[in-house]
Amino acid sequence: MAAIKTAIPTRRFDAVIVGAGGSGMRASLQLAEAGLNVAVLSKVFPTRSHTVAAQGGIGASLGNMSEDDWYWHMFDTVKGSDYLGDQDAIEFMCREAPKVVYELEHFGMPFDRNPDGTIYQRPFGGHTANFGEKPVQRACAAADRTGHALLHTLYQRNVRARTHFFVEWMALDLIRDADGDVLGVVALEMETGECMILEAKTTIFATGGAGRIFAASTNAFINTGDGMGMAARAGLPLQDMEFWQFHPTGVAGAGVLITEGVRGEGGILINANGERFMERYAPTLKDLAPRDFVSRSMDQEIKEGRGVGPNKDHVLLDLRHIGADTIQKRLPSILEIGHKFANVDATKEPIPVVPTIHYQMGGIPTNINGQVVAPAGDGSQKVVNGLYAIGECACVSVHGANRLGTNSLLDLLVFGRAAGNHIISQNLRARSHKALPASGADFALDRLNRLETSTGSEKVQHVANDIRSSMQKHCGVFRTDALLQEGVREIMKLDERRKHVSFKDKSKVFNTARVEALELDNLIETAKATICSAVARKESRGAHAHSDFPNRDDENWMRHTLWFSEGNRLDYKPVVTKPLTVETFKPKARTF
Ligand code: FUM
Repeated sequence: MAAIKTAIPTRRFDAVIVGAGGSGMRASLQLAEAGLNVAVLSKVFPTRSHTVAAQGGIGASLGNMSEDDWYWHMFDTVKGSDYLGDQDAIEFMCREAPKVVYELEHFGMPFDRNPDGTIYQRPFGGHTANFGEKPVQRACAAADRTGHALLHTLYQRNVRARTHFFVEWMALDLIRDADGDVLGVVALEMETGECMILEAKTTIFATGGAGRIFAASTNAFINTGDGMGMAARAGLPLQDMEFWQFHPTGVAGAGVLITEGVRGEGGILINANGERFMERYAPTLKDLAPRDFVSRSMDQEIKEGRGVGPNKDHVLLDLRHIGADTIQKRLPSILEIGHKFANVDATKEPIPVVPTIHYQMGGIPTNINGQVVAPAGDGSQKVVNGLYAIGECACVSVHGANRLGTNSLLDLLVFGRAAGNHIISQNLRARSHKALPASGADFALDRLNRLETSTGSEKVQHVANDIRSSMQKHCGVFRTDALLQEGVREIMKLDERRKHVSFKDKSKVFNTARVEALELDNLIETAKATICSAVARKESRGAHAHSDFPNRDDENWMRHTLWFSEGNRLDYKPVVTKPLTVETFKPKARTF
């Protein structure tokens, strides 16, 4: 039984990291190897974190297959972001990319190899040579299980470095003092329901995305926006939450990811007439145009009646011509997913696919060191002392309005490492812990108590499912004012219903049910941030395709959205158009 408001045990660490995916474990490794006392909390066993599902590769201009350059990678990322990405952060990420990949190689990551022993790289959406001239092979791959290989490599190194793992622990809320400094988290042990304070000189959120606010998603069930929920409840803003990426190839009806690497290896999208329709929409890059572009083209085909199946509601991904040998070698998981989730043998039949929610470009705003930043009130952005955010829960912003495939694994490596290095440079070991306020855990414990004592009539599952269907209906590939307005009204009503959830029989509360109820508070914050930011943005940019405002409007909307939970308030801040050392890429029309 949890949630009695008495003194709860406390453990102290130099750094507490919430989340054991790629970014969390890359940061913890950096810190633990530097001799810091590091705790990593995870709702699941670390190697089951959602990074494990990443398939296609890590973007880095190694140039193993043909000439490549970090500056071309930067150009593709800026253009892919529809010019909303911050060019200083993008330059930093693309320059660092080869370094973080070679580090992984030296950690023992089992990349696929070329005959000369170098890392194998495959083509991916929006990856080009010479500023868009032709496709380039930039995705460093371990078959179609790159995330799996990455996570196991990092976990093993962390064990060696003596990182403390708290497995099946859920962070509930931040502890902040009167100065607003972050001093750790209150966390719940899922098995026992007991709470503990994890006191830290530095806290890092590496909690991943919130893809589970949508009904059809490639995301794991654990992706409930926990970091965003905790940040929002602590009064911090969420940035650019209107931008959600639909991956073009989720298995129709199942949502499971089919890697873009399939199209990288030569797979093509076809409509009901057997036509390779991407040739019409993107004459140069065809099926390997960026994801927002391909997803909209697929949706258009379906809308115009060229969809496949009894309901004409999906298209087909054809990889038969690649040949069984290459499929077995480069795409073994896809063969398995085709069998298990679509009942097709992908060497002989195409796979039914449909755009499916995959990735949030927005998140907790940070600088390039991973430090969380928030408006200071005088127009400037101020660092929140003691708090970092990295990976999908953060918005640095390298993805802007649309992320390039393979830049997610790159983002978590580059910024996980950068946050680690920045923390190391603070000389934490020599500093003592700030005093914890006596009421530091109250906010989290009150939230838990409300749940345990509620006599409301709402069921967690009903409210959560209604959030997912509402977001799916109102915040899809194409948005309209009417749909978004209706979505805002529905999500606000669901926020009210959420306050009345209770457990049926309080003497028999399963711990998983308690966790799902706590996750609901995070789902709703993320859903509100998304729909309220989306309704306000009156333009189309990247993944935010607004049918009533079909054009990009750089004059009025080349700015980042900041959403605050308190008062459901929006604010904006400028995009950083000046890179660190090179020329700015000026906005242009995006054609492929
Ligand atoms: O298609 C994929 O393999 C996904 C990669 C990514 O989201 O970067």
